[in-house]
Amino acid sequence: MSMNQRILELFEQSDGAFLSGEEISGQLNISRTAVWKHIERLREQGYQFEAVPRKGYRLTAKPVKLDLARVVTGLETASFGRHLKYYDEVESTQTVAHGLVQEGAQEGTLVLAEQQNAGRGRMGRKWHSPKGKGIWMSLILKPGIPLQMTPQLTLLFAVALCRTIRGYLGLEAGIKWPNDLLIRGRKVSGILLESNAEDERLLHVIAGVGISVNLEPQDYPEELKEIATSLAIEAGHPIDREALLCRFLRDLEQLYALYREQGFAPIRTLWEAQSVSLHRPIRVQTAQGAVEGTAESIDESGALLIRLQDGSLQKLYSGVVEF
Ligand code: BTN
Repeated sequence: MSMNQRILELFEQSDGAFLSGEEISGQLNISRTAVWKHIERLREQGYQFEAVPRKGYRLTAKPVKLDLARVVTGLETASFGRHLKYYDEVESTQTVAHGLVQEGAQEGTLVLAEQQNAGRGRMGRKWHSPKGKGIWMSLILKPGIPLQMTPQLTLLFAVALCRTIRGYLGLEAGIKWPNDLLIRGRKVSGILLESNAEDERLLHVIAGVGISVNLEPQDYPEELKEIATSLAIEAGHPIDREALLCRFLRDLEQLYALYREQGFAPIRTLWEAQSVSLHRPIRVQTAQGAVEGTAESIDESGALLIRLQDGSLQKLYSGVVEF
């Protein structure tokens, strides 16, 4: 039995009572620092502890697993999520999805995990994905569109998720270019598209979406506390992950069908209506340096058009927006 399991066993036996760090360290013959480290690791896995000075820790909640039967019966899609791979713990759902593509997985195949140990974000950043708290998913698409249109798909995902959050939860979500979803200025979701192309056409896209659903303030590491939030924090109550996922897949599939029929124009209009980046002074960090100006619109490829102080218009294809 691992040390984490032994600690959990002690809490199970304590029946909801407080256990001091000293008691745990004595019973398991480990230092108080080691006790603290194990508690932190358990928190990352979705266990919740109340910590009170001089009393110690109390186990208040255990990780909750997705009810897959509810997901499968709740799907309202033709293909998105109809092939579903579910994992308790993975490095990254993106990596798993890449493997499935090699094995011939079809469009709409969905990879879901309760926890990611090496969740990937845009621009080489990490994505915090604690157990049982979010929707950490990768969806396989085979759009067959020209490579330069990839940013359009990224924006499409942000529009769909924004609609879901507004429609299902009534929360005021907005899109920060290109595809961060913010509520009250804090990030609640991120989208990462990875693709393979041949002869300038997109063969397949692996669309990774991370939605911070039921994280509580103590689930965030220090560096994210001020800039990130979750749907549960914003709504003031825990969110039904299964229902949210089914609704998102439905909204996404509908929007994708619209895109296939009518092209990017309707998506662009919806994106601009939900954007929090437009018509205000912004600064964008790009690989070539910072660009400052007023964001005016996005063009037909999904690039951001910024009016610089000298009156000229600059196109940006990637970067991080700062207000
Ligand atoms: C970002 O905002 O930087 C994008 C974050 C994307 C995170 C999701 S979580 C599911 C999928 N698997 C990953 O490793 N990353 C994406």
